Amino acid sequence: MTDCDGVILGYYTLSAYAVKAAELPAAITKKLPRYPLLPATMLGRLAIGRDHQGKKLGGLLLMDALYRSWRNTSEVASVGVIAEAYDESAQAFYEHHEFVPFADNPRKLFLAMKTIEKALA
Ligand SMILES: CC(C)(COP(=O)(O)OP(=O)(O)OC[C@H]1O[C@@H](n2cnc3c(N)ncnc32)[C@H](O)[C@@H]1OP(=O)(O)O)[C@@H](O)C(=O)NCCC(=O)NCCS
Repeated sequence: MTDCDGVILGYYTLSAYAVKAAELPAAITKKLPRYPLLPATMLGRLAIGRDHQGKKLGGLLLMDALYRSWRNTSEVASVGVIAEAYDESAQAFYEHHEFVPFADNPRKLFLAMKTIEKALA
């Protein structure tokens, strides 16, 4: 994400990922195909420059990442988006946006593609 002069305001990465079904919260796996490994999308490094935080850009950038992740499922399967938060505040940011923490590692969080699809509809 850049401003009109091309200055970088924030960024993120998306990559294909495989998640162990056993690691996901039980409430979520109940609704997913019964395979030990499930295709997912990894959201990495989402950040907004210090001078621009608190201006709704992080939320906007996250929506952009979720939209692109969903759009990609027309060609490549993905049961949801996984984010790895590097600290408690980042974890809170994702939980604020309805990501659910993994039971054994709360810094890793999951948002089901079905939830994303509903939100985008
Ligand atoms: C976390 C981060 C991306 C948020 O971006 P931001 O532009 O400051 O956040 P926004 O202004 O877009 O906030 C969007 C919403 O998230 C909430 N929010 C923002 N930061 C939050 C936090 N740390 N904890 C809980 N909620 C948070 C806001 O209150 C706002 O809620 P609302 O839409 O209901 O009013 C940004 O602060 C950042 O880059 N931090 C450093 C890196 C980081 O932690 N990255 C996370 C991935 S590891």
